Amino acid sequence: MCGIVGYVGNDDAREIIIEGLKKLEYRGYDSAGIALYKDGKIQVRKSAGRIANLEKLIETEDLHSTVGIGHTRWATHGAPSDVNAHPHSDMANTLAVVHNGIIENYLELKEWLAKEHGVVFRSETDTEVIAHLISVYYEDDLKEAVFKAVDKMRGAYAIGVVSAKEPDKIVAVRKDAPLIAGIGEGCNFIASDIPALLKYVRRIYLIENNETVVVTRDDITIYNADRQPVTRDVFHVTWDADAAEKDGYEHFMLKEIHEQPKGLFETLNRRLDDRGNIRLDGIHLTKEEIQQFTKIYIVACGTAYHAGLVGKFAIEKLAKIPVEVDVASEFRYRDPFVDDKTLFIAISQSGETLDTLAALREAKSKGARVLSVVNVVGSSVARESDDVFYTWAGPEIAVASTKAYTTQLMCMYLIGLYMGYTKGTITEEYYRHFIDELRMIPDKLKEVLKQEDSIHEMAKGLYRREQVFFIGRGVDCGVAYEGSLKLKEISYINSFAIAAGELKHGTIALIEQDTLVISLATQDRLFEKMLSNIQEIKARGATVIGLSKEGNKEIEGQANQVIYIPECMDEITPLLSVVPLQLLAYYIARLRGCDIDKPKNLAKSVTVE
Ligand code: F6R
Repeated sequence: MCGIVGYVGNDDAREIIIEGLKKLEYRGYDSAGIALYKDGKIQVRKSAGRIANLEKLIETEDLHSTVGIGHTRWATHGAPSDVNAHPHSDMANTLAVVHNGIIENYLELKEWLAKEHGVVFRSETDTEVIAHLISVYYEDDLKEAVFKAVDKMRGAYAIGVVSAKEPDKIVAVRKDAPLIAGIGEGCNFIASDIPALLKYVRRIYLIENNETVVVTRDDITIYNADRQPVTRDVFHVTWDADAAEKDGYEHFMLKEIHEQPKGLFETLNRRLDDRGNIRLDGIHLTKEEIQQFTKIYIVACGTAYHAGLVGKFAIEKLAKIPVEVDVASEFRYRDPFVDDKTLFIAISQSGETLDTLAALREAKSKGARVLSVVNVVGSSVARESDDVFYTWAGPEIAVASTKAYTTQLMCMYLIGLYMGYTKGTITEEYYRHFIDELRMIPDKLKEVLKQEDSIHEMAKGLYRREQVFFIGRGVDCGVAYEGSLKLKEISYINSFAIAAGELKHGTIALIEQDTLVISLATQDRLFEKMLSNIQEIKARGATVIGLSKEGNKEIEGQANQVIYIPECMDEITPLLSVVPLQLLAYYIARLRGCDIDKPKNLAKSVTVE
């Protein structure tokens, strides 16, 4: 959460920082601020609300500067107000700090600073503590002062610091929160994420945990945890700058929904060899290793967790290994049974989700092999895993995840198939048939997307509702969870998903005249059971939208309206069935006038516990 940008060069720092922050607004957007070196001072300007408010605040001011740092915030400590917005300064306003993360011992430090150094605090944030702490240790070397301050701090953070005493540099530190340094010509940058710098540089350094980086116009020096300079390979960003633009779509979410056929095609085809076999290059999974695994944990958060639910079905069915799926925030604190025969699969779009990262470390410390499924190349989860299976979704900007989810599903199928085939738990014929079916998915998905207008029409009849239920069986249940999350997070409708067979054990009490229930019935094997569940809720007055495969016409006699997806194997329907639900959530939220790409209270990358 929170986005940081810093620039040292010869051009207008204000413009570059504001542009960069706009590209990071997905990380948090409740307040924003900038600190620029000008006329011998650090000038701090900040404002509650979106970056547009900050721009307005400074539009008529002469703030020309060539060095500065900026921040877009997702509030943790203190309400999203002007005063709590970053940057924060020391008492003498000599330096300014931007921060992403949480300082866990800030209360203790606050007390010490007030008592021993007479510090008077201006904000309710934990970040302000950092500025005062650096100031206490600051004689004439900002880097040394930052080192000393960091030694006192506990928590997860990325920070950027500028000082009027050393106006030619930015000092930044990374601990469990993302940080990169961008390499320019006569200028250099820091940022939380690549999109902020795409317009300016393609060569970056990925800063590692517990490293400090000193950035000047002509130099970037990285110091390791022992405070020794280290060399780092340059990471070349291959993304097209347009990939992070809306490209004519009204929202990133809609654009990203439409990018799914391409993301799935890429994710699949980069893992198939000329003969159509799955090749997991760079992933160490030999037959002996696969045979050794007695258990697999799939651990993730939110949408990625929902991909894991489908992954469980795929891997258990194909590779015949028991799979447990857990949300990362629970896994890490429940002392799970993990040993060296455990495969731990972490799923994460950003690769920076703190809970997922912490769960991964927990599993690794107990001897598990760690395979991660990640979208952002070089992210923390990717770097800390034994092996990485990258999704090829491209940059996902909208807070609500869409194309990351479907590409994660594709990875789950490929991992299951690869393991099953290598282990010999599936036949050659089934393996080939499954891959052929996967190859057809991108085109079938294009067919699903053609229903956009009719789903928009359907949304017009639904958008005023305040409660929606999603039900399904088998893999449909996992998709029901995801459809429900999509709807609630962007439209703020109270939606709830449950296994259809579980409804009668309590939740059916909530079904009454005209309650809306979206019922997924794509599984041939479970179709009749779903029809019975639909009848049960219809008998209590529910209005039902059915979602099924073309050809399952019987559902029309039961549901009030039906959405169809093209015929495909039962196992892989989630790759198609989630898409109408994404579109439905999108159009409902749009009709309700919601801020779709930046829903309230959320941020794209959740780097706090
Ligand atoms: C929902 C959504 C979140 C994320 C979750 C994990 O649309 O995007 O639920 O899926 O915060 O994020 P990653 O995948 O980055 O670890």
